[in-house]
Amino acid sequence: MKNVVLGVTGGIAAYKACDLVTLLRDRDCAVRAAMTRAATRFLAPLTLAALTGHQVLVDELGGEVDPSIPHVAWARWADAVVVVPATADFLGRLAHGLADDGLTCLLLALEMHKPVVLAPAMNTAMWQNPLVQQNVLHLRAVAGGARFRLVEPVEKRLACGETGVGALAPLEQIAGAVSAALAGI
Ligand SMILES: Cc1cc2nc3c(=O)[nH]c(=O)nc-3n(C[C@H](O)[C@H](O)[C@H](O)COP(=O)(O)O)c2cc1C
Repeated sequence: MKNVVLGVTGGIAAYKACDLVTLLRDRDCAVRAAMTRAATRFLAPLTLAALTGHQVLVDELGGEVDPSIPHVAWARWADAVVVVPATADFLGRLAHGLADDGLTCLLLALEMHKPVVLAPAMNTAMWQNPLVQQNVLHLRAVAGGARFRLVEPVEKRLACGETGVGALAPLEQIAGAVSAALAGI
């Protein structure tokens, strides 16, 4: 049994994270969810709490008083982290080492040998924007490429009505990337 933190950020594909919980459990993983504040506008934390059977990490500074320092405790608990979907905003914050919510704090507190799988999803122009691509390149290069594994978005009809690259990769592919990452540690 491996422990996986499922990070969810504020994109339209956030609802798909629910199905990934089941796929990861089928692969013998215990799953906990951590959401950005924006993600909670797209998907109720209650849904992920019910599916994972555990409280959801959101905003450590804005919620209940919790003396356990959850982002550190969760980083210790996790064998791997997968972020589905990863927004442009989140990728930028992560690439610059920012830590303004539970998920980004957890990722900075995560020991370097633990893998992180990122599955971006966004509008095509956002994905192709040089600033976003620069952040992606930067993330890929961290620790000689050993830290972040990107599951590239795919081409299909997007929520904005356009057809292009930017849709979340198939969940089976993302679950496979998590299994492969866990097998390597
Ligand atoms: C309806 C709607 C859909 C959005 N979908 C996406 C998306 O698919 N991908 C993305 O990168 N940003 C998307 N955004 C923008 C993000 O919600 C925004 O950048 C937010 O700050 C992300 O915060 P987070 O990265 O902390 O979750 C969307 C915004 C709205 C209003």
